[in-house]
Amino acid sequence: MLAITRRNVVLGAAGGLTPFASVATAQVRDGPLAELAVGLEREIAGLAAAPEEALGGVQALLRSAAGAGAFDRWRRSPPAESHKIEVLRSGGLGRSWKVQLFGIPEGRSHPPHCHENLASCLVVLDGRLRVREYERLRARETEAAALLRGVFDDRLGPGEGMVTAEDYRNAHWFGAVGGRALAVNFKASGHFRRELFRLRNRRYLDPSGGRRGEFWAPFISPAEARARFAGAPL
Ligand SMILES: [Fe+2]
Repeated sequence: MLAITRRNVVLGAAGGLTPFASVATAQVRDGPLAELAVGLEREIAGLAAAPEEALGGVQALLRSAAGAGAFDRWRRSPPAESHKIEVLRSGGLGRSWKVQLFGIPEGRSHPPHCHENLASCLVVLDGRLRVREYERLRARETEAAALLRGVFDDRLGPGEGMVTAEDYRNAHWFGAVGGRALAVNFKASGHFRRELFRLRNRRYLDPSGGRRGEFWAPFISPAEARARFAGAPL
């Protein structure tokens, strides 16, 4: 894969190279976003071998970038509605990574879901998230339902975050509490298994049948997940 340098970032932003790191909303030649892109490419080299460690390194980069003002333009004037803003992306079919901002109004949620062939982490920037995380016991799951085990159910404040890998806390559900929340999210797909292009690496679940211990969570459609869970707090 082409190593990302500041020059590649600039070329990517102009739409010229693939794979590339691009900035969706602004030209970046220097500064904390360009530094973040270079650091992320270095950090995820070890993603498949040691995902939790690599994602911990990614979280440190995200916190450092936030402290350096990388996301300030979006933090100053967040939209009122629930939104995702793509800040950086790299790669193409097969393997790719992306940095997004998640803006979530109070009482709204990202519905419960799990992931396929995806590693991600999140750091809260502003506000608070109520988060539930689950281990996904893949070996025993069926076509109709995942077997989950609840491992975290609490609030996260600024600087705190969560890590998601193929076999580590693969399912989660989170929403804003006490006001609007803004979080920065990193996700990398295609690092755990070789496979053809996948349209979706997110599957929605209904975990309302349990909270602690092991319990079955039926897979549900995106439409059902939005209708039942997106408009309500956890
Ligand atoms: Fe997720």
